[in-house]
Amino acid sequence: MPVVRLLNESQTLDVLADLNAILADCVEGGASVGFMSPFSPADAEPFWRGVAAAVGRGEVLLFVAEVEGRVVGTVQIGFALKPNQPHRADLMKLLVHRVARGRGLSKRLMQAAETEAARRGRNLLVLDTATGEPAEALYEKLGWQRSGVIPDYALFPDGRSCDTTVFYKRIG
Ligand SMILES: CC(C)(COP(=O)(O)OP(=O)(O)OC[C@H]1O[C@@H](n2cnc3c(N)ncnc32)[C@H](O)[C@@H]1OP(=O)(O)O)[C@@H](O)C(=O)NCCC(=O)NCCS
Repeated sequence: MPVVRLLNESQTLDVLADLNAILADCVEGGASVGFMSPFSPADAEPFWRGVAAAVGRGEVLLFVAEVEGRVVGTVQIGFALKPNQPHRADLMKLLVHRVARGRGLSKRLMQAAETEAARRGRNLLVLDTATGEPAEALYEKLGWQRSGVIPDYALFPDGRSCDTTVFYKRIG
């Protein structure tokens, strides 16, 4: 049975190897999540160390999904830090390792992230995602509202151009 947990900084560092493996697997699987191929677990480590530090500063909530003691999925809430956006946060880096997809883990992670963000007083979440990819339909199913598409916003890991869809959701 999968378990979804919210991690502190030291717990994040404890599962660095699993997080590195997830991010590398998603990039090598073709997901447009900020990095280019080739991308190894070692390449992912500076990113996750930065996330751990942000968790320690209280700027980010990091959720993980574990199956049989191994972290196979993750998502983040990044609090908007501007003084005029105390009610807002970004939903970031929903990633599920290919070995664990299709079992409802992303839905569990999204529900946990939205619930905790609301509990901490945020009532507006924003995310962006590659247009036409599986995550886009998932966010719509979970009640997110499509704001629009920005053409050629980013690249896929293989260098192809990638449109981006911006979504928001009112919560709490
Ligand atoms: C998108 C992603 C997070 C989905 O994770 P997952 O754990 O396999 O998703 P779930 O099992 O929770 O499925 C949730 C819903 O999405 C649907 N879905 C998931 N992957 C799908 C796919 N490849 N094609 C069609 N539908 C899909 C499921 O059918 C399910 O819908 P249902 O509840 O009506 O059955 C995963 O494919 C992934 O990590 N992709 C690479 C990284 C990425 O693109 N992240 C998004 C960044 S914004």
